[in-house]
Amino acid sequence: MLLITGGTGQNGRATLSEFIREKRNVRVLVRSLEKASGLGLDKFPQVELVQGDMGKPGTLQAALAGIERVLMISSPTPDMLDTQCRFIDACKSNNVRHVIKFSGAESGIGFDPSRFRFTQMHEDIEDYLEGSGLAWTHVRPSQFMQVYLREAGDVAKEGVLRLPFGEIELSPIDVSDIAKVTYRLLREGGHEGVSLDMTGPEALTMSDIAERIAAATGAPVRYEPITARERRERLLASGMPPSLVDALDEQLAERLARPKSRVDLSAHAMFGIWPTTFAEFAKRHAAAFRPGV
Ligand SMILES: NC(=O)c1ccc[n+]([C@@H]2O[C@H](COP(=O)([O-])OP(=O)(O)OC[C@H]3O[C@@H](n4cnc5c(N)ncnc54)[C@H](OP(=O)(O)O)[C@@H]3O)[C@@H](O)[C@H]2O)c1
Repeated sequence: MLLITGGTGQNGRATLSEFIREKRNVRVLVRSLEKASGLGLDKFPQVELVQGDMGKPGTLQAALAGIERVLMISSPTPDMLDTQCRFIDACKSNNVRHVIKFSGAESGIGFDPSRFRFTQMHEDIEDYLEGSGLAWTHVRPSQFMQVYLREAGDVAKEGVLRLPFGEIELSPIDVSDIAKVTYRLLREGGHEGVSLDMTGPEALTMSDIAERIAAATGAPVRYEPITARERRERLLASGMPPSLVDALDEQLAERLARPKSRVDLSAHAMFGIWPTTFAEFAKRHAAAFRPGV
């Protein structure tokens, strides 16, 4: 049996969609059955929902019983390191064989992991997993294209993409490309002891991204650079937890110091997956970015 964690979140759900499309059985760990049901995850006969908390090994016996391989994802919160290390402990004591760690790696050339707390936490979790004696595979995507959907309100209302990225490049990746890889890793196994970095197919400036959104919606969109302080205030006003805003400030400082971005499509090539372009992503989400009528 195979297990997905983070099934109510963005990447867990995207991986689950692959199982549903292929009509393959999978177990999904959720903290709240009610939330999972609200998302419609209880509607598929091939999906077995089991409740548990990754940070509390005592709640995980039912979820981990008979599991061969697991995709480990949890939220980017200050307790991510502890949550995932406790989950690895539970996998070990419940005889799981192979953990696929959903990790992350910036596409900025020369990005220093020690300067961004989430990359550092991912490195520490990867080290913990590698030292656990379990088989492991790390999947390390770059920035998700879906991050730009957070800006859809301003784009639709004012035709402006407001971000503090100056003229730097990023190589964002579509979450559904990552899900095709995590699905294949879960289903097929293998690739043990391997780290798979993944980016999207192009290094893009924010002006490039604005241009692609405009082409998809048919309405003008311009990039308006804002300062780090302006972005910080906007995020705090939107209700984002201050610890996450602090983390994004760290990431921003490192990104601004490393303006060039790499493209790594080796995992796409390994699994024969078409790398979704930002233009295709924007077309798929054009309704969210398009001005209201
Ligand atoms: N944003 C980016 O551009 C980017 C790029 C590369 C990598 N990453 C990494 O991607 C990961 C986040 O992926 P995502 O966007 O799919 O996350 P997400 O949408 O925030 O979903 C997180 C999932 O983890 C579950 N979860 C959290 N704590 C849990 C616990 N203690 N026990 C059981 N389930 C728990 C959540 O369940 P509930 O519904 O119960 O909360 C939710 O289903 C982070 O590690 C982040 O560093 C992000």
